[in-house]
Parts: sequence; C-alpha cells; structure tokens
Amino acid sequence: MLAIHQVKNSFSDRWIPYCEANGIPFKTVNCYANDIVAQLQGCDALLWHHHQGNPKDIVFAKPLLFALEQAGMKVFPNFNSNWHFDDKVGQKYLFEKAGIEAAEAFVFYTKKEALDWISKASFPKVFKLRGGAGSSNVKLAPDAATAVKLVNKAFGIGFSQYQAMDNLKERLRKYRKGKTDAKDVLKGVIRLAAPPAYAKVSGKEMGYIYFQEFIPGNDHDIRVVVIGDKAYAIKRMVRENDFRASGGGDILYAKELFDDSLIGLSFGINEKLKTQCLALDFVFDKGRPLVVEISFGFSMAGYDPCPGYWTKDLQWHQGSFNPYGWMVEDVLKSIAT
Ligand SMILES: Nc1ncnc2c1ncn2[C@@H]1O[C@H](COP(=O)(O)OP(=O)(O)O)[C@@H](O)[C@H]1O
Ligand SMILES: [Mg+2]
Repeated sequence: MLAIHQVKNSFSDRWIPYCEANGIPFKTVNCYANDIVAQLQGCDALLWHHHQGNPKDIVFAKPLLFALEQAGMKVFPNFNSNWHFDDKVGQKYLFEKAGIEAAEAFVFYTKKEALDWISKASFPKVFKLRGGAGSSNVKLAPDAATAVKLVNKAFGIGFSQYQAMDNLKERLRKYRKGKTDAKDVLKGVIRLAAPPAYAKVSGKEMGYIYFQEFIPGNDHDIRVVVIGDKAYAIKRMVRENDFRASGGGDILYAKELFDDSLIGLSFGINEKLKTQCLALDFVFDKGRPLVVEISFGFSMAGYDPCPGYWTKDLQWHQGSFNPYGWMVEDVLKSIAT
C-alpha cells in the first residue's frame, strides 16, 4: 500500500490517477497532521512532492521524510534525491566531491574571506541565494563593487527569499508577452507590501555568500530529467537581454535539440548520485556541459509536450509518456527488493 500526500498542482495530480488506472493500492494521507506516522500504519511507502514555496513544507518536509526513511520506510523523494533540494550551497560540495563537472561555485561564511576573494577575482560572476526557483534569486554581479555590496548585505541585514521588485518586473514581462494576466500583475503589486508566507517563515538569508563562475554565451540552458533508467529533456531559451533561462517560459522540445552525449552524461551523473528523480540544469562552456543546479521537483506543465524519452542505452522512444508513473513503479520496485 502506497501513501500519497495529495496537493493540487503537484506530482500527486498524476500519481493518483496512475495508481487508480493500474490497480495499485494507495491511500491519501495528510503529512501536516500530528498523527502522520500513525496514518502511515500499514503503508509501505510515502510519496510527497513537497515544494520550496510552501511555508509548511520548508519547515519539516525533509525531516519527516528522512525520519521515515531512517526508520525503514520507502519514501519519495528519498534522502539522496532530497537533501540538496533548493540548496545550492549543499550542491556545491556534492558536485565537487562527486566529481560532477559544474560551474565553479564559491561560498564564504565570513565577510573578510568574501572580500579577500573579491579583491582577487575576475568579474562578472553570478550571485545566487541557496534557495529559489525560476531564476528568482539568481543575479549577475557585473563588477567587484556590486559584489562588495552583496557581501555587505549578506553579512548585514540579509536577503529576503522573495525579491518583491524583481518578482513584479518578471510578472510585467510575462504580461507584456501575453503569458500571464492582469490579476497576476496585481498580485505582484500587493506582494510589495505583503511578502509571501514562505519568505517570512524561512527568514533572512544571511551569514553566507554564494557566487558562481559566469559561463558566457549561453542563449539557453538545457534541463535533463533522469528517473531510473529513463530520461527526457527540454531546452529553455534565456529571457531577452538576460542570461537566465529558468522560469522564462520559452521552452523547446524537439529531439534533435539534444545530444545523445548530454543524455548519457546525465545518466552517468545519476549513477553517482543514486537519486529517484534528478533534474539537471546545464549551461555550456564553449560546448562543454556544466551543471548549474539539480532538483527532484519541478512544475509538470513545462514537460508535458516532450515528444519522447531516452532509455539508458540511449535509445529514443517516440510518443507521449508518463514520468509520474515511472516514479510510482520505481517506488514499487524498491519496496519489492
Ligand atoms: N553560472 C552560470 N553561468 C551562466 N548562466 C547561468 C549560471 N547559473 C545559472 N545560469 C542561468 O540562470 C538560470 C537560473 O539559474 P539556476 O541556478 O538554475 O537557478 P533557479 O534555481 O532559479 O533555476 C539558469 O536557467 C541558467 O540559464
Ligand atoms: Mg534552475
């Protein structure tokens, strides 16, 4: 019996119909309830697509899932898939130790070390908060003076997870392109005065600073998603006059856009990391793929138009497919072994 935490617009929208259609026994549970462990009585696994923008999830989703896993229960996402989710600082160390070719990241925990580094570094660099999605907390630091300002803030008043002005500008950009409505823009205006709950709950980002080597000349990034022995990919174009693709909404899907070697590399990385679901964001340094970020979770609509997928032997399988069903099947397999 599977337990599924049901949330609208999360993987559970697809997990539940998949289980129903395939006669897979499941029940829905409420992870927010104090008696969640009791609710899980008789279940072999818990699936919960928790979210970085949910104020409750960020408080305890990881600890709950890790606790269950340590006590012997199968979970999705499991520890290897989940601990680094929405944590680019953690990912820096993982990429370095696991020998994963990534855009080099520099993290400092004192102002002095950060300023020393800036005095010797070349610019531009990319500044990131450890958390955030859709490029919301990713910025270019064009010169040392900007980097110093960022350092002063990181070791001063800190950063909000939610950059209200940037967010409003992004909503306006999407509105002008016909990709969102006036209501969404109005929401952005209201958010200037009332930040979202998750930003309040997570508090200020401070006490560390993260820069990454800027990889120039990319008019897109490529995201490859590996789930078990299958993978699919999307190509995301950068915003106009910007270097950032993620969250921009301009996505291409044709199979020809993706080199087999990149798909093979992605399978190889997941062999090292042993995750259940790994979305890899790649930029290219003169053609050489470098990881900038990994994630177990993503918003589903961006992938639905994918025309097919690859298996580990790099064979292409044309036609629609259900990666959320793969997740369920992989969890069932893990229960059986
Ligand atoms: N080091 C880098 N060099 C060049 N472009 C980058 C770099 N890091 C990120 N980007 C671009 O910025 C976008 C957002 O960065 P990412 O780290 O993936 O943050 P997010 O979590 O918001 O998706 C990426 O989709 C990519 O287009
Ligand atoms: Mg990204």
